[in-house]
Amino acid sequence: MRADPADNLSLEEMDKLSLLHPYTHLVQHAERGPLIMTEGAGVRLTDNHGRRYIDAMGGLWCVNVGYGRPEIVEAIAAQATKLPYYHIFASMGTEPAIRLADRVLRLVPENMSKVFFGNSGSDANDTNVKLIWYYNNLLKRPKKKKIIARRRGYHGVTVAAASMTGLPHVHAAFDLPLPGFLHTSAPHHYWEAPAGMSEREFAAQLASDLDVLIRSEGPETVAAFIAEPVMGAGGVVVPPEGYYPLVQEVLRKHDVLFIADEVICGFGRLGTWFGCDYFGIEPDLMTIAKGLTSGYLPMSASVISEPIWDVVRDGSKELGVFGHGYTYSAHPTAAAAGLANLDIMENEGLVPQAAEAGAYMQRRLREVLADHPLVGEVRGVGLIAGVELVADKRNKIAFEPALKVGQRASDYALAGGVISRPLGNTLAFSPPLVITHADIDEMTSIVWDALERVRSELITEGCWKAA
Ligand SMILES: Cc1ncc(COP(=O)(O)O)c(C=O)c1O
Repeated sequence: MRADPADNLSLEEMDKLSLLHPYTHLVQHAERGPLIMTEGAGVRLTDNHGRRYIDAMGGLWCVNVGYGRPEIVEAIAAQATKLPYYHIFASMGTEPAIRLADRVLRLVPENMSKVFFGNSGSDANDTNVKLIWYYNNLLKRPKKKKIIARRRGYHGVTVAAASMTGLPHVHAAFDLPLPGFLHTSAPHHYWEAPAGMSEREFAAQLASDLDVLIRSEGPETVAAFIAEPVMGAGGVVVPPEGYYPLVQEVLRKHDVLFIADEVICGFGRLGTWFGCDYFGIEPDLMTIAKGLTSGYLPMSASVISEPIWDVVRDGSKELGVFGHGYTYSAHPTAAAAGLANLDIMENEGLVPQAAEAGAYMQRRLREVLADHPLVGEVRGVGLIAGVELVADKRNKIAFEPALKVGQRASDYALAGGVISRPLGNTLAFSPPLVITHADIDEMTSIVWDALERVRSELITEGCWKAA
């Protein structure tokens, strides 16, 4: 136990003494301390000094219905009062878990058959990997185990999920990725397509890269491919036109399963219920989380197709009990939050609303920011967008990472009252689906001002001049 109890310290000081913050520069945090949020309503947050912000990131891409929804709070309170917790191991059940699984299956693509609940996007991705290994063992294909993900992809941080994530800082010094997890090219037209290549040509090249990788590994060793319909944390990357049909053709040819990681895209973000609907993907497994409960309580799920379910179910004839599950799988209070969240989404028509607001956000970001001298590209679909900041927009030259241009822009936007997320030098936006046109206008104008401040700072430092 600590000898100096933190009785007389400010919250900021107590934080520095007590918390290990996820995805935080720990040395800088020890100097700067935390920004503490205390309240939320709609798309707005308030911090402990009373400052207000537009949360243009919806928390971490998750507060789809917005903050302060009494219906969800009441559903949580009612379930917690009646039965706060019970599990569903060994054929036990609870009503919210059963109803939420049924509800999810009515929303996802038709070939999906069963829902396995977890508590985070990461653990649901680990579950999907384990299910695929289990499935192939039951099919007597013990060599068919490798998983192909994509560079820049984000699938979480547990051991298998982090292995699938294609970002170097998630692997460095963690001894990851594990063997058997491979990465193919990122569908990032702006940075990775050769100059002059069309989107369609680039899509064909990416499908060919995938085909070559599967062939070189041996199709009999490759079990699955995982993709976020639109990449989030890797820089908000919308795949080039024609990408998914070509990718699916390659996967089918080699009998490789498709895991759609819908953790960000699911539940309305792209203006459709799922990213699979938007792109016409026919997944074998889906990973869902975030918008399932809008973050009011933690909950995720792996959703599997009928053919996979058939094999997994029959596995019990051979192996007995299905040996996987979390204490909090299908947590009834979280499931009650999920049901109330889906009621709101359906009753208020938030998915079509997101399509409309999303089209407006994409248009305004382009109208206001695309011509800014630091902006190389504005990209996105629906209510997810990325603004790529570059040193030289004509010649597509990136800023030196050490200049931390994305971080500076995000800091100035924050000071102006907008929370965005710097992903390298891409500023990401993923607001609650209830964002209005007026909020979007306010947000884009604050971001423009932030970019102007970064530009004049870089000029003063001698780090940038107009081309
Ligand atoms: C696409 C995707 N998959 C998985 C995850 C991991 O989810 P969690 O942080 O809940 O473990 C995330 C988190 O941002 C994500 O964006």
